[in-house]
Amino acid sequence: MAAAGAEARGAWCVPCLVSLDTLQEVCRKEKLTCKSIGITKRNLNNYEVEYLCDYKVVKDMEYYLVKWKGWPDSTNTWEPLQNLKCPLLLQQFSNDKHNYLSRVKKGKAITLNNNKALEPAIAEYIVKKAKQRIALQRWQDELNRRKNHKGMIFVENTVDLEGPPSDFFYINEYKPTPGISLVNEATFGCSCTDCFFEKCCPAEAGVLLAYNKNQQIKIPPGTPIYECNSRCQCGPDCPNRIVQKGTQYSLCIFRTSNGRGWGVKTLVKIKRMSFVMEYVGEVITSEEAERRGQLYDNKGITYLFDLDYESDEFTVDAARYGNVSHFVNHSCDPNLQVFNVFIDNLDTRLPRIALFSTRTINAGEELTFDYQMKGSGDISSDSIDYGPAKKRVRTVCKCGAVTCRGYLN
Ligand SMILES: C[S@@+](CC[C@H](N)C(=O)[O-])C[C@H]1O[C@@H](n2cnc3c(N)ncnc32)[C@H](O)[C@@H]1O
Ligand SMILES: [Zn+2]
Ligand SMILES: [Zn+2]
Ligand SMILES: [Zn+2]
Repeated sequence: MAAAGAEARGAWCVPCLVSLDTLQEVCRKEKLTCKSIGITKRNLNNYEVEYLCDYKVVKDMEYYLVKWKGWPDSTNTWEPLQNLKCPLLLQQFSNDKHNYLSRVKKGKAITLNNNKALEPAIAEYIVKKAKQRIALQRWQDELNRRKNHKGMIFVENTVDLEGPPSDFFYINEYKPTPGISLVNEATFGCSCTDCFFEKCCPAEAGVLLAYNKNQQIKIPPGTPIYECNSRCQCGPDCPNRIVQKGTQYSLCIFRTSNGRGWGVKTLVKIKRMSFVMEYVGEVITSEEAERRGQLYDNKGITYLFDLDYESDEFTVDAARYGNVSHFVNHSCDPNLQVFNVFIDNLDTRLPRIALFSTRTINAGEELTFDYQMKGSGDISSDSIDYGPAKKRVRTVCKCGAVTCRGYLN
């Protein structure tokens, strides 16, 4: 079966050597759906190579074992190289093979048995890598379907075979648990004609406007942000509407290469003091946080974020429900800083948590914040809740900062 599409194969199903018309006819008679046997509109007359599984040389001809998109593994076929019109997949196959040899086998360069076939372990690794790529692409598509902000979310793993997390659900805003009500209608709104110069929402709360004309935060950490809300007369271009517009930057969830699991990097340059993302998750009571803290392992506990701006009643748990902030790692010298934000909910027990850059962050740099919030002269008492004083093995910090404190907790 060639990969060149209709012109190479016509409408023939080569694995079973019947014409696709006949196959469809059989399906109708047998009451099988085309989907159940892998025929879709897309591949009916145009087979698509999903990935390449193996390689061999027969009579000086190179062949690749092809997994056809929409068809089960049992229909994989060996195709001569000259029939394959998928340069990207061929390149990926070659890269994966080299990565396997350099990493897994640490340079032991036996690629082929008598140069005629791949070692089964290599082929197995290449297939796993191909399946991982498909799973991560699907997850990336899902994240982008779910997110409601401007910045795109990318997913990348060039490090190991880890796929998408199995028990993580993307949300855009706090998810209150039963019994907790998040008021989404402010009790006060301004009627300024220019929120930058007039006594606006922050003044009503007794604080300064948080932003300068360049949308950068100018108030010290620990000071709350009061943004204009749905009751205000001002429009979307008001300079006091920043966090509510969501993440503007394209970010990438990537696999770290030094054993910190997933991390987040920015794909674009971020100016200093700019809003980057919100920390969201389930909103739970502190009693529930205590209970979950007992059940969670060391990693689970790092997702618990106490809302202790003014009271100690609530905690945000981003372990299962969260946004990109779920994947942001800790650093003892972070480039993100936490701020409490009030927009439509003015209840001081339930601030929203926003992460702002502390300095210019270049494209490609990892984003981090200090899980203990002590790093950047923060005077607020927000902190990740490490649970009751139960004996836990401390997690060694791999942030790599000169000022690293050695442990996460
Ligand atoms: C809130 S999660 C961050 C996302 C996580 N890396 C993942 O793969 O989903 C916190 C966990 O990430 C890892 N981690 C984060 N920062 C770290 C650091 N500086 N050093 C070592 N491990 C870190 C630890 O396993 C920690 O329990
Ligand atoms: Zn306004
Ligand atoms: Zn206002
Ligand atoms: Zn550290």
